[in-house]
Amino acid sequence: MLIAQISDPHITEKGKKAYGIAPSNDNLARTILHINRFKPKIDVVLVSGDIANDCLLKETQHAQSLLNELNCPYYIVPGNHDDRENLFSVFGGKAIPAIPSVENSFINYVVEEYDVRLIGMDSVKENSPGGEICQTRLQWLSECLAREPHKSTIIFMHHPPIKCSVLETDIDGFEGAEEFGELIAKFSNIKAIICGHIHLPTHSLWNGSIVSTAPSTGMQLGLDLSMQKQSEFYLNETGYRLHHFTKHKDLISHTIYVRENNDGPYPFIEHRDGSLANEAAQELKNEQ
Ligand SMILES: [Fe+2]
Ligand SMILES: [Fe+2]
Repeated sequence: MLIAQISDPHITEKGKKAYGIAPSNDNLARTILHINRFKPKIDVVLVSGDIANDCLLKETQHAQSLLNELNCPYYIVPGNHDDRENLFSVFGGKAIPAIPSVENSFINYVVEEYDVRLIGMDSVKENSPGGEICQTRLQWLSECLAREPHKSTIIFMHHPPIKCSVLETDIDGFEGAEEFGELIAKFSNIKAIICGHIHLPTHSLWNGSIVSTAPSTGMQLGLDLSMQKQSEFYLNETGYRLHHFTKHKDLISHTIYVRENNDGPYPFIEHRDGSLANEAAQELKNEQ
């Protein structure tokens, strides 16, 4: 089974760029094209938040029109740049199978129809860029995990529950991470907790499970492990994660870069001793 993870597309209104410079709309369209052409066919796409750039309904609607070009089902969870009501109104019933209620307005849900169980978790903290798993969400997840404690499971959410050595997001923090970690540690069937938010691909072992983050399709963050600078972004090639759940029930995760042009491929067999490269160099020399 192949699961593509798109993260942090930061979609703007048609014709606009994120932060005035990042071609986030075009990047998402190119990423979707890459996913649709991938062989073998990708089964499902998970979008791990920051779907809109500025919480706007128009941005959310534009994101939906782009995501609807996917040739497989897709599911979304909110990020700190999204508005829950806008997401429910645009994606409710399909990409968000959860039904909002007075008691629980979080975007939490389970997708059961695949070999691996997919749990979408809402990690948004009200009026804050940081993450949170509050008691209500913890209780919901606890009951959900207890129902099928042996089925291979992937949890997808926006905020990673650990500090990833990114100054800004580390400061913003994640409320309830300790209790969330204690719950995760009780279950050995959680293959990974896949997140976004930091716009960099990372992975880490946390409470017996893998926590990984995906690159953003919108814009990539600069890596500054000295933790001195406020965040800066780059307009590098866009990318997504491809999680391969094998028939042996292993989860192998790849980072795929969507490039304009690829220099290659170069078959190893033809370049083993560099002879072809040497011949080409000689030919060039002779021409000069
Ligand atoms: Fe983001
Ligand atoms: Fe975010």
